[in-house]
Parts: sequence; structure tokens; C-alpha cells
Amino acid sequence: MDLISPLELTALNPVQKLVFRHPDDPRVLVKVVNPRFIERRDKRDRFYQKRRRIGHHRAFAREMIEHLASRALAPGRLAPYPHMQNILGVIDTDMGAALLVEAVLDENGELAPTLHDLVEGGRFGPHEQRALERFADWALASNVLINDLSPDNLAWHPSGHFVMIDGLGDRAGIPIRAVSPWLNRVYKRKKIRHLLAEIGMGKDSGRSRKPIAIAVAIILALLGLLAAQMELLLD
Ligand SMILES: Nc1ncnc2c1ncn2[C@@H]1O[C@H](COP(=O)(O)OP(=O)(O)OP(=O)(O)O)[C@@H](O)[C@H]1O
Ligand SMILES: [Mg+2]
Repeated sequence: MDLISPLELTALNPVQKLVFRHPDDPRVLVKVVNPRFIERRDKRDRFYQKRRRIGHHRAFAREMIEHLASRALAPGRLAPYPHMQNILGVIDTDMGAALLVEAVLDENGELAPTLHDLVEGGRFGPHEQRALERFADWALASNVLINDLSPDNLAWHPSGHFVMIDGLGDRAGIPIRAVSPWLNRVYKRKKIRHLLAEIGMGKDSGRSRKPIAIAVAIILALLGLLAAQMELLLD
């Protein structure tokens, strides 16, 4: 596979809106950014210079950071993460910079179904339900940050586990969940409740019952961030 020459995507048929199979290796997917997203000025993010610097690539940056954060738990050795899409790199294409990722494929070598496909097709049975519970246990126990846990973003691996193929990382301007594992877990628990409610596997009980504990944790996390910034500046 030629990894240096820019890839020509416009002549290829996407397998999903913005997802192409790599012409040299069908086990690899090439993901590009939605052109509408490039045009749109995201007003909510206007205060965050750092994000503006990365611009419309921030979804890629979020996924990459989580990929690296998970690998940082096993320095200097091979430690794949079966529940997260494997990122292979960034390349140039005629549709802009693109993320190269490992495809989750079914037994026939086609793109694996998502949780949404399984539920819609009546293929979400007890086996898949147990696998989803294992995915949720992993998500809560790990340090990974999740922002979009929708049924479209979980692919069903033929060996019997779910893989998150999109929606990792932190969309918030101030990275509070990255510095507070407790707040991160509270947020992920909420996302899992929403996901289960979305596929008809439970009721979304609404707002969290720990507003004071959450407020205290946010203040502590903000103080921690402030202290770290001061240390950097005064060092
Ligand atoms: N690594 C992967 N393995 C298998 N299928 C994938 C993979 N990544 C993406 N897909 C397929 O492509 C679809 C869209 O990919 P992705 O979620 O990354 O993009 P998106 O911009 O969020 O698109 P959408 O708005 O349709 O969710 C997924 O729902 C899934 O069907
Ligand atoms: Mg998606």
C-alpha cells in the first residue's frame, strides 16, 4: 500500500456518506470530514482558540486523543483495545485530510452491522445483550471519554463484542471530565442509560440525583485545572 501519495477519493463510491474503503486494502476505511461541517461556523466554540486552531478536524483530534490515552495505559508494549476502533493514521486525500481506521467486518468481509442495524433487523438477542453489558462495564471502568454513544456508533464484531467506531472524546470547552474520573463515570453512566432507553432496553430515569456532589466535583476539577495552568506559567 502506498502511504505517501495523496489518495484520490472523489472517483470512489463511499460505503457510507463520508466513509470509503481503502482501494488497496479493504480492511481499512478512510474517513473524511463533512463539507457542510467545514462551511459551518460553530458559534458555540468561538471562545476556544485551541479548538479553532484544529478547526473542522476536531472530531478526528478527539478520536486520536482517546486512542492515545488508551494506549498510554500500556507504555512500550502491544495492547489493542477491542472495544475501540483502531486508528491507523492520518493521510492526505483529494477531499482533505482523512483518518485511516481499521474496518470492523462481518464474516463475509462486509462492513459489520451497527447496534442500530441489529435492533432494526430483529437480531439483538440475549447474546448481543450480554455483549452490550460487557461493553458498558468496560466503558465505565476505563479512562475513555465518550460524547456520542448512539446505536449507530457501535459496530458488532463477529467474535461477539461491540466496537465504538465514532463518538469518542470530549466536546466540552473545558476538559473537566478528563481530569475527574468520577465526573467522567457519572457522564458515561448517563450516556449508557440514554443508549439503553433508545434501543428499548430500559427507562431513562431523567436527571441525575447528585447535583450537589456534581457541583463540588466540577469546582474541584476547575481548581485542579487552574493550579496546573499556574504551575506551567510560573515554572
Ligand atoms: N471502523 C468501522 N468499521 C465498520 N464500519 C464503520 C467503521 N467506521 C464507520 N463505519 C460505518 O460508517 C458509518 C458512519 O461512520 P461514522 O459514524 O464514523 O461517521 P459519521 O460522520 O458519524 O456518520 P453518521 O452521521 O452517519 O453517524 C457507521 O455508522 C458505520 O456503519
Ligand atoms: Mg457516527
